[in-house]
Amino acid sequence: MKSVDGNLFLGFSKLDRKARYDRLVEMGALTPAEVKDLTAAQKFKPEMAENFIENVIGYFQMPLGVAANFRIDGCDVAIPMAVEETSIIAALSKTARWIRNHGEITTEIVGNAVIGQIQIAKVKDFAKFKQTIETNRTFLIETANEGIASGLVKRGGGVTDIQIRRLDRPDRGEMAVLHVLANTCDAMGANIITQICEYLKTPIENLTGETVTMCILSNLGDQKLTCATVRIRNVDPALGQGIEEASIFAETDPYRAATHNKGALNGMDPIIIATGNDWRAVEAGVHAYACRDGQYRSITRWRMQNDVLEGTLEAPIHVGTVGGVTKAHPTAQLCLSMMGIESSAELSRIIAAVGLAQNLGAITALTTFGFIQGHMKLHITNLSISAGAKPNEIPLLKKRLEELLAIRKNITLSNAIDVLRELRRELTGKKTPQEQTV
Ligand code: MEV
Repeated sequence: MKSVDGNLFLGFSKLDRKARYDRLVEMGALTPAEVKDLTAAQKFKPEMAENFIENVIGYFQMPLGVAANFRIDGCDVAIPMAVEETSIIAALSKTARWIRNHGEITTEIVGNAVIGQIQIAKVKDFAKFKQTIETNRTFLIETANEGIASGLVKRGGGVTDIQIRRLDRPDRGEMAVLHVLANTCDAMGANIITQICEYLKTPIENLTGETVTMCILSNLGDQKLTCATVRIRNVDPALGQGIEEASIFAETDPYRAATHNKGALNGMDPIIIATGNDWRAVEAGVHAYACRDGQYRSITRWRMQNDVLEGTLEAPIHVGTVGGVTKAHPTAQLCLSMMGIESSAELSRIIAAVGLAQNLGAITALTTFGFIQGHMKLHITNLSISAGAKPNEIPLLKKRLEELLAIRKNITLSNAIDVLRELRRELTGKKTPQEQTV
């Protein structure tokens, strides 16, 4: 992780974009060349996109922002976030400042294996199959490590175990499933673990006389979990109790847990996207892990003890710093370099820390002033644009809408359209062509 000068986070959110770039260079998060790169017009040619996907017609551009004030495992870090939703970065940076001033965030990874599955859909004799795999487990592991996974072994990884599972079929028959466990080092691991499983298909069929029906990774990556812990001191007891109650709500009720976890993922996904990682895989893993005991529950937990608020997040967050588009996409590279990421484990730990902080920001708002007020204040620009305001009308319209929000505590698009109509009438004293279109 690259340690930046965290004192320079002070006042970051008040800077205009030019000053923001200067500040990020000053604090050591970006180089002047990277700033030039970020501000270049028409940065990417469609030819580059052809390397990533099929049937390319262009790019869908996403805003890239920076979450400020983070100190993770004692290291001050500027966090790039690719996200379209208003107020995520503001709420996150505010929460990170609270933690920074009164507590700390620590992280760790438990386990190092990704899981690949080999299915034998209709196993003829499960007991015999199990016995054969058990007898040949070491042989199969060595076969994979000497063949397809030799590169991983050189980097300190490779296949570590093969586990055997028996599943009941709906037609009352039996299915056998092998779990191949491998340390895929700094790769997210989806391709390599699937390749390993496919490589083992023939030796398994030859040894057991059974038919392998499919091979693929599992996104329920519970053999490698990323954990983050937040501790904050001197927390107001009523505030802490409210946060604990919000946590208990999400631990108990799947309807609430889904929204609670979405709040944590609001912080996680933007980093996963900014670093060119597969956010669908992480989402799938997080949600599957959230219902590992049969009920969907929160991936975070908050408790208040005396005046200390403690929160934890635990989830499979499998990302890579090699493979996929992480190396091929220039902005993903820039984002990894901005955080000084040296390993996939480090990236995963940052994502967990940010997810936990984002969740804290959301439930703090929900249990105090509510969500709508803060969100709406930041959402007013979007509403002004959606209402059809021209660039020169936006500042005045925003001011009017903020005044209205202070009174009504909520603003809708139709409010924005009405206020814009009124504003145009006042400004021109008569109906304008724009007004006709509002
Ligand atoms: C909105 O994007 C996220 C929240 O709904 C999360 C939550 O309810 O905890 C505010």
